[in-house]
Amino acid sequence: MTSLEHGCAIVTGATSGIGLETTRLLAGLGYHVFICARTEQNVLQTVENLRTGDFQVDGAPCDVRSRQDVHRFVEAAVNRFGPVEVLVNNAGRSGGGVTADIDEELWSDVIETNLNSVFRVTQEVLNTGGLRHRGRGRIINIASTAGKQGVVLGAPYSASKHGVVGFTKSLGNELAPTGITVNAVCPGYVETPMAQRVRQGYATAYGQSEESILKKFQAKIPLGRYSTPAEVAGLVGYLTSDAAASITAQALNVCGGLGNF
Ligand SMILES: NC(=O)c1ccc[n+]([C@@H]2O[C@H](COP(=O)([O-])OP(=O)(O)OC[C@H]3O[C@@H](n4cnc5c(N)ncnc54)[C@H](OP(=O)(O)O)[C@@H]3O)[C@@H](O)[C@H]2O)c1
Repeated sequence: MTSLEHGCAIVTGATSGIGLETTRLLAGLGYHVFICARTEQNVLQTVENLRTGDFQVDGAPCDVRSRQDVHRFVEAAVNRFGPVEVLVNNAGRSGGGVTADIDEELWSDVIETNLNSVFRVTQEVLNTGGLRHRGRGRIINIASTAGKQGVVLGAPYSASKHGVVGFTKSLGNELAPTGITVNAVCPGYVETPMAQRVRQGYATAYGQSEESILKKFQAKIPLGRYSTPAEVAGLVGYLTSDAAASITAQALNVCGGLGNF
């Protein structure tokens, strides 16, 4: 198999930001990429846009909070592109506030979307997707630097991403003898629609303008700027390569120096 004849890769939450750039990169590497998000129209549009670049991309709507959706989605991916070789668990949401005031509903939804989904999609890909029977595979979970350090007013988000890092380390060790590597990529601040929503949330909470929140965040980053979705996708692409075969059970930052742990 040459580098331009890869098999099926799944990317969740691929209609925007990091998931979209990751899909573009994997398709460029020759993967047949099957994508999802909740909004059907956005999935169709994304597939159409990427196909004009001659890429092998298809997809279906799927809410990663639903076992039934995820089962159907992985089944559809296998029917379209064959057994799964690479899984990128990217779908996620922000969410937080003053912890004493957070609704249990918000807490549960953040954990469900960011953490339980990673277990659920991974399990479906190992079984329905056939990954557990292959001698090589890649599972890459998009966590966050908030999965390694606490974030003020972000307790549910930070707890969910710490959970993703723990799951990654555990499964990475478990699957190491099988040739399947499992790693977390931990972005810091990345300019995407989610990042804009996060700035809006802090602007409201602190009674400041979004511009001053942006300046405050930029000042915390040694590089002085947000990372780009393409910079995060670049590490995902590397982790899929043969050269990365001995990297497993790790949580690697792409964060302009924000976290050095
Ligand atoms: N941007 C950052 O600064 C940053 C930093 C650290 C980590 N991250 C992580 O990186 C990942 C991607 O973030 P992003 O900034 O690229 O976000 P984004 O631009 O908001 O994109 C999120 C994607 O996930 C999909 N999605 C959301 N909930 C879903 C669900 N329940 N089921 C299926 N798809 C769902 C969205 O589409 P629909 O809404 O149509 O479902 C969209 O395609 C997330 O896990 C996030 O926590 C981001």
